[in-house]
Amino acid sequence: MGMVYSLMCKPCEKRRRRHCQLSKYLTPRQVQLVQCTWSILKMDLGTLGVTVFLHFFETEPDLKMLFPKMIRMNESNQLEWDVDRDMLQKHAVTVMEGLGAAVETLHDSQLLNAVLIALGQTHDKRNIKPCMLKRMWPSMQVGLAAVLGDGYTKEVSESWRKLYAYICLQMRFGMENPDLIVDMHDDILDS
Ligand code: HEM
Repeated sequence: MGMVYSLMCKPCEKRRRRHCQLSKYLTPRQVQLVQCTWSILKMDLGTLGVTVFLHFFETEPDLKMLFPKMIRMNESNQLEWDVDRDMLQKHAVTVMEGLGAAVETLHDSQLLNAVLIALGQTHDKRNIKPCMLKRMWPSMQVGLAAVLGDGYTKEVSESWRKLYAYICLQMRFGMENPDLIVDMHDDILDS
């Protein structure tokens, strides 16, 4: 059985993590840039997601085997893995929707943190290690640049980089604490 996150397990760490405010990582202007560009990106999550994942599998081939639903073994060469395009598209949209859930919760750090910690826990169950998270950032950048075109300015890129780092930080905490029960509405210890 998992522990009650707020009362029994690492309360100090929990408090620290819960109080970890996005506003310490991103300026209001950067939050605004992420939200503005997200309103464009979300119109075509398929293109964004597929661009990100194709690049990711190309540049990080050793991580392919973590995605069994999307990857099937190549008939001619069993050491290679082919991407199932339909599954890739479906999955890519799901992951981008996950990113969207984060962007749309930017105003509420406590809820955002809870969502990201829970996401880290589901990834831990899939054997994803914290150090793998940052390996997706270069592919995210390629996807963002492809969809936003000229709108992907240095300032926009820096805002997304900071948000991605924040997401990784919170997911990592979830991965390192897989049994904690994360209550999205719990603020017992936060007063
Ligand atoms: C910001 C980074 C990421 C976000 C927002 C994200 C989000 C998601 C979401 C929303 C799902 C589906 C819901 C779930 O199963 O929990 C998912 C599934 C998954 N993610 Fe991630 N993810 C991220 C990074 C990564 C990385 C870096 C890897 C691998 C190295 C990874 C591997 C997986 C796998 C294997 C699944 C399950 C796929 C399946 O159902 O076959 N994720 N991710």
